[in-house]
Amino acid sequence: MQNPMPPTQPPNLPAHPVDEIAPQPPGPSDPLDRLIVALDLPSVAAAIEMVDRLQGACRWFKVGMELYYAAGNRIIEQLRERRLNLFLDLKLHDIPNTVAGAVRSVSGLGASLLTVHASGGERMMRAAAEAANVPGAPSLLAVTVLTSSDAAELRAVGVADAPGSGDAVRAQVLRLAQLARAAGIDGLVCSADEVAALRHHMGPRARLVVPGIRPAGPEAGPDDQRRVATAAQAIARGASMLVVGRPITQAPDPARAAAAILTEIDSAQRAQPH
Ligand code: C5P
Repeated sequence: MQNPMPPTQPPNLPAHPVDEIAPQPPGPSDPLDRLIVALDLPSVAAAIEMVDRLQGACRWFKVGMELYYAAGNRIIEQLRERRLNLFLDLKLHDIPNTVAGAVRSVSGLGASLLTVHASGGERMMRAAAEAANVPGAPSLLAVTVLTSSDAAELRAVGVADAPGSGDAVRAQVLRLAQLARAAGIDGLVCSADEVAALRHHMGPRARLVVPGIRPAGPEAGPDDQRRVATAAQAIARGASMLVVGRPITQAPDPARAAAAILTEIDSAQRAQPH
């Protein structure tokens, strides 16, 4: 098996102070600080080629399991050398002690954001939050219900409809958000279907990050994502930041696709009451 963590020296750079570069709604901000490009690519070479094609057009990049398991800290170094903002999407989910150790292991890498699965429970998230409570550590985001899941899938894994709720997914997202907050994490990953309800419950300062973004129109063919929306819809409903992968990275012209999404974000935030 390939070693997921090549023995390169981690770039011991401080994380960007995310609150300074990602202002929260309400109020307009730079669309560049609200778009995160998911680098779901198999190698450093493929990822850097994509980053260079988007250079100047995008400021935030997400490294998830596919790329981190293939490239380890080499991809982090390359992104940090380019002074880009890094979201390390490792979706940690294990016993509290192990997750806390994992958070400590990646805390010095210079990532601004790091994910844990909220379904790991309050004790696990609290252990993660305590481990991340050191200078230079990333801000934590708790992943609620994956945007690829729907109500039938939740039922299949044993998450029943909450009593009195017509929407099993939304009820589960709200429940996990409350656990995350109780554990000291107020950044969340959710879909555009729940972001308005979460914004209402969590208040204006919570960082709500929304994947499952698809362009409107026929070019958005079906894929593994189930709870999807356009960039404009997600921003209008209260998303702080959007995660976009294939609609940019698999577009014939990724820079043009990113520019179109940035324009959509800009229009949507201008239409919001200040
Ligand atoms: O290609 P696409 O735009 O669907 O990529 C979405 C990205 O967001 C993927 O990297 C996926 O791992 C991530 N993500 C998600 N749903 C979540 C959390 C993260 O799609 N709930």
